[in-house]
This record gives sequence, structure tokens and C-alpha cells, in this order.
Amino acid sequence: MSVLPKLLPVRVYGDAMLRMKALPVRNFDEKLQKIVRDMTHTMYERDGVGLAANQVGLNQRLFVIDMDYSREDSEPNPVVMINPVIKAGEGEYEMEEGCLSVPGIYAKVKRFNRIKYSYFDPAGEEHEEEAEGYKAVVIQHEYDHLNGILFVDKISKLALLKIKRKLKMIMSTAVDGKNIREDIYDPNVPKKG
Ligand code: NI
Repeated sequence: MSVLPKLLPVRVYGDAMLRMKALPVRNFDEKLQKIVRDMTHTMYERDGVGLAANQVGLNQRLFVIDMDYSREDSEPNPVVMINPVIKAGEGEYEMEEGCLSVPGIYAKVKRFNRIKYSYFDPAGEEHEEEAEGYKAVVIQHEYDHLNGILFVDKISKLALLKIKRKLKMIMSTAVDGKNIREDIYDPNVPKKG
């Protein structure tokens, strides 16, 4: 039986689910495979580099990433990390980050340049890996989601001051897990009621 993947509503800044510490995945069953399919589909549809389960209202420790994907010239190559653990980090890497749950906002965040981590894949097999630079940043960003942390928690006070109004605007749309509104992306589209 084949079921088409679903586009899941993405929670936005202000939604309580984004602030919860997610719970370990216990069953590597068909239900999990479906969650993984739906999350991967949603990440690509929303042009995300990563998506954590609690961003789509599932309070579980998993996320999907694909750093290389762009619609034009590369094949999707999603990596699903279940019950991930970042075991060590070193160095410093700073880049501008964004988040599907904080649409339209970008700011610099300092993170480790190199990390060691482990995770389980959807088949239940454990992996031990290292990453650096951009990939390490993406993994740290998604890992933070699972602990209720957003990238805007880690930016400078000055940068936070600059985006305060935008954050308030997003918060006003965050009613009980409502989907991202397209007009948040486009400043030219007038705000609807
Ligand atoms: Ni994010």
C-alpha cells in the first residue's frame, strides 16, 4: 500500500510545542516511517534545510536534514536522525541562520565548528559521525529544536532588538499550531485579517 506523503502544518514562533523538550522515539514501526515521509515531504515543500518533529507538532526526538538540496540541480538526499546525541563540539562557526518556524527572520548565530554525534536511522541502526562547518550548524540547529531551543534564543541582544517587532507579528499568527501563512514570507502581500 502506498500513501502519498502529507504536507504537515509547521508551528511558528510563539507555539508552546516549540518550547517543549521532545521525548525519545521508542518504536521503529510503520507509524514512524510515515512520520519520516511526511516530514521529509514538508521540508522540501517549504524549502527547508532541516525540519524537527516538534515543528510539525510531534513531540519526538527526530529531525530530517538535507543541506545539498535545491530544486534546480540536485537530487534529494534526506538524512533522518532519530534520538540524536551531540557528544562533543569544538571550534567556532558563525553564520546567518533562518528557521521555518521563524519565517522571514535571519540572524547570525555562533555555534561549534565541528561536532561528534550519534543517531539512529529509520531502520533502527545506530550511526556515529562527525561533521563540520555548515552541516555541523544545521545539525546543532535541529538538535536545539528537540530541546525547545530556537536560533533566536542565541543571537545578540542588539540583533534581537532589531527583530522584536517581526517576532511579535509571527507570534500573533501562532494560534494552536496553525500553518505558516504565506503572507509572512512576502512583505508585499498585505496582511490578512
Ligand atoms: Ni529551525
